[in-house]
Amino acid sequence: MGKEIPIVSVTSVKDSLDQLDTIIDIYKEVGVLVLRGCKFSLEDQILITSKMGDVLGWNFYTDILKNDRVDGTYLGGHSDNPDANYSHGKDQYKLDWHIEQVFYIDPVLAGIWNMTHFSAEPDAGTTRFADSIEIYESLSIEDQDFLDKSVVIWEKPMGQTNGPFYTNVVAPHPISGKPTLRVEMDHGCYRMPELHFWNGGIPSKEQVDRFNSIWGKIKGTLTGNVDIRYVQYWQEGDMLIVDLFRMYHAVMGGFNYGERTFTGIGVRPKGFTHDLYISEDLV
Ligand SMILES: [Fe+2]
Repeated sequence: MGKEIPIVSVTSVKDSLDQLDTIIDIYKEVGVLVLRGCKFSLEDQILITSKMGDVLGWNFYTDILKNDRVDGTYLGGHSDNPDANYSHGKDQYKLDWHIEQVFYIDPVLAGIWNMTHFSAEPDAGTTRFADSIEIYESLSIEDQDFLDKSVVIWEKPMGQTNGPFYTNVVAPHPISGKPTLRVEMDHGCYRMPELHFWNGGIPSKEQVDRFNSIWGKIKGTLTGNVDIRYVQYWQEGDMLIVDLFRMYHAVMGGFNYGERTFTGIGVRPKGFTHDLYISEDLV
């Protein structure tokens, strides 16, 4: 049942770098993996991220480190707010299925999450992943072709704006070029994606209905199809590396304040901007 997240056994940061070719191969092939076996400092995490970035063209690459311009690290884990509601059980969604920040023209490519503290139950606070390339390939040729021509409008709070954003439902994967579903599913959206353009024009009522039907089918696949699902059962010290262009993900409950803490690094392309898909002219 389900899919196994590849685990690379490591004894140190040096050992991790010695296995970098393997790590990058798995990253390209599967899109998610975990380094397990030692505890990484922030410096270790930055070093591994930058060495991967040298190969994969991330903004975290060695030249940036030399210039002392390291940003993009953040504290995460979803247990950092004492006022938050922690009543979600381990089988309930603490954070709904989503694809990462599709509103950026220079997209988030990967997340490197170093679980520095984990004291919840071993099967609680899991992170679920599903490969949007695989979900796309599971659709009928007709539905794939329909989505290829679809542009959606949607709204979600992201700090500086709520949108609306105009984005392509399908985009080529930066590494493989494969069609990748990039449509938001998170019930935290202020406005769920609606079909805005189809094949460059205003969609018909039938096309709007068809989009909603396929969107619902994808959502049902994420929430209901365990066969395509990867589940990360966290151990303290795990460093999870995930392709966030291609992996839908969600966080399950079952933990309390302070029980689940990671340092994250978000990487984007070299020379990225913070420009947003906030105009219909950009898609
Ligand atoms: Fe996320």
